[in-house]
Amino acid sequence: MARSFLPYSVFLWVLRVSVMRHWVVTIPLAFRAFLCYISLRGAKMGAKILIVDDDLESLKLIGLMLQGRGYQIIAAQSGLQALSKAVDESPDLMILDVMMPGMDGLEVCRRLRADPRTAPIPVIMFSARTQVDDKVAGFEAGADEYLTKPIHPAELVTRVEVLLARAVRMGKAAKPSVRAKTVGFLGCKGGVGTSTLAVNVAVALTQGAAAGRQVMLLDFRSALGTLALQLGLSPQKGLLTLSERPTGTLDTDTVLANMDRHSSGVMVLGGMPEPLGTLPSMDPPHVEAIARTLGASADYLLVDMGSGLGEINTTLLRLLTYLLVVVEPQRIALHMAQTLLATLDEMEVGRHRIGIVLVHKAPSATTLTKEMMEGLLQREIVGVIPPAPELAFQAAEQGTPMVMMQAQSLVARQLHQLAEFVASL
Ligand SMILES: Nc1ncnc2c1ncn2[C@@H]1O[C@H](COP(=O)(O)OP(=O)(O)O)[C@@H](O)[C@H]1O
Ligand SMILES: [Mg+2]
Repeated sequence: MARSFLPYSVFLWVLRVSVMRHWVVTIPLAFRAFLCYISLRGAKMGAKILIVDDDLESLKLIGLMLQGRGYQIIAAQSGLQALSKAVDESPDLMILDVMMPGMDGLEVCRRLRADPRTAPIPVIMFSARTQVDDKVAGFEAGADEYLTKPIHPAELVTRVEVLLARAVRMGKAAKPSVRAKTVGFLGCKGGVGTSTLAVNVAVALTQGAAAGRQVMLLDFRSALGTLALQLGLSPQKGLLTLSERPTGTLDTDTVLANMDRHSSGVMVLGGMPEPLGTLPSMDPPHVEAIARTLGASADYLLVDMGSGLGEINTTLLRLLTYLLVVVEPQRIALHMAQTLLATLDEMEVGRHRIGIVLVHKAPSATTLTKEMMEGLLQREIVGVIPPAPELAFQAAEQGTPMVMMQAQSLVARQLHQLAEFVASL
């Protein structure tokens, strides 16, 4: 009896434990799944939220609160880190602390709005500052929402959901966002070497700093176009064809079909080498549509803007990540550069988005040092190109960019250095 009772009781015990274990394990699992279901209701599944706060505890607290709602969380602990993560991670929304050492949240927000790649990201400013003036400053810097600390989790979550839903609604009608680094080359006047610079930096990018990436070279002026000739390609009517199409039809395939491919891999769209005024000019909506379409698929868009601030260039200014102003270090060009830079200030193109490239075209007797030029122009000089009249001449004759003709020359090395600067933007 005892022999049979023992196994029976053991059997019962095992059964009870296994049932218990079953419940112990499965009930909480089911319950957790249920909680998860409840908490995910209404949340945009997988939406990526970048939380920026110099205080680690705040980061953890907000992070956990939103993670529990099914959001993907990325964190940054400084303004600069926030800006680079905003570009690299393309978050769906940002929660931005205002008071941080170094760059504060207001400056971060202004910079986000000034960069076409990050401008559309919804931003919630989250601050211990509760005064009306603080809120106004936040909205003026470009915030979509201003919340004050401390906050009830339910309120934070609701505001996040509302903003995300609004972004989705607006996104349906939105234009493609520019993900490419879009860099303009603008001469302080004609003939300073702007097109030569744009062509060589484009090729240098594909050779080194951005090897394997999609680099595009554009010129939106229908006439006086020399890009194709400088690259040894025969000029095509691609730009004219695109300007005659309705902007709504300018999708990636259509635009690419009207571009040329250089042996370096650079894709080229440019005007015709014909006299100014003889061809219909592009209108700003077409310029914007083409730049946005290409900017959504390419890695780098380099734009030869020629000179001047006509309507094509003012349209482009809004889309640029960075503007390189091309200056020859001689009296008249420097004068033109000063007036150009003053106008760009009036147009509120942020100074941090502008750099100067000095192009020496002939060995000159200029006594101005780089520092003196920077003082004169009040901008950083990000590139200095040495004179190479013979190489420049041969390159133009043969339709081969200088960086390909003499890759080891000093001028080619300086052009590569500028390409590296562009790649690091
Ligand atoms: N580093 C340089 N040294 C000497 N000549 C140059 C240099 N860069 C450009 N050039 C020459 O300057 C002239 C004008 O160049 P281009 O690129 O057409 O200027 P832009 O586009 O400003 O009108 C061309 O003949 C070109 O070969
Ligand atoms: Mg030119």
